[in-house]
Amino acid sequence: MSPFQVDLSDTPYWRTVEKHGGWHRFACKLLARQVLDDYGIDKGLCLDLGCGLGWFGIELAKLTDLEVLLVDIDRDKLLKARENALKEKVRGRVSLLLVDAHHLPFRDRTMSLIVCRGAVFFWRRPDKAFKEVYRVMKPGAVGFLGGAIGRYMPSGLRARIIEVVKREVRKLGAEKEREWWRRRTPGWLTKWLDKAGVDGFRFIPDPPGIWIEIRKGRCS
Ligand SMILES: C[S@@+](CC[C@H](N)C(=O)[O-])C[C@H]1O[C@@H](n2cnc3c(N)ncnc32)[C@H](O)[C@@H]1O
Repeated sequence: MSPFQVDLSDTPYWRTVEKHGGWHRFACKLLARQVLDDYGIDKGLCLDLGCGLGWFGIELAKLTDLEVLLVDIDRDKLLKARENALKEKVRGRVSLLLVDAHHLPFRDRTMSLIVCRGAVFFWRRPDKAFKEVYRVMKPGAVGFLGGAIGRYMPSGLRARIIEVVKREVRKLGAEKEREWWRRRTPGWLTKWLDKAGVDGFRFIPDPPGIWIEIRKGRCS
């Protein structure tokens, strides 16, 4: 594996995907609808940062005229994301790139929308990556980053997804379990966002997860 290549396959998230991929895929479908309803951004460039199998970005491509960049640090996940884009017939509207969130290969102020589900908590230097996110956002753009299921998920399925994720996280052992949840708190995230110099953010609780909404002012 090259030094650039990172494999997080053996994490609670991917272990739940093995058995319940359909649930996470459905969550991304509902999240795409939520993001479109809340922010109304339907054209321009959209970055799905840490896209995994590409579900979030692909759903946005299906719902909007956005040109979607699916990026991840894991080549194998990107290859699967490519297959998914083909299956969902949006391959012409998405680009796939092997990218480390700490070094985004994009010009300043180019993205209209950035979505990022589940990747923030694995960044080596969250301040550096948040700085990159902010740098590439256009004035007026929105960033929706964090990790959770979204408010449109029906309560029954929501409870089942949370239960399987919690069960996998428990298997990490007490110390890593504590750290897992600590990273999903406003306190932990604020520290890194402040260090990155990001202003104009707020938290959207989605228990037991959380989202960060970043809005870049028109004059930034
Ligand atoms: C929990 S998975 C979520 C995948 C997808 N967003 C989803 O919701 O199904 C986190 C993803 O972030 C990617 N990732 C982690 N660190 C990254 C980094 N520094 N740069 C780019 N991607 C990264 C991982 O490879 C993984 O695919």
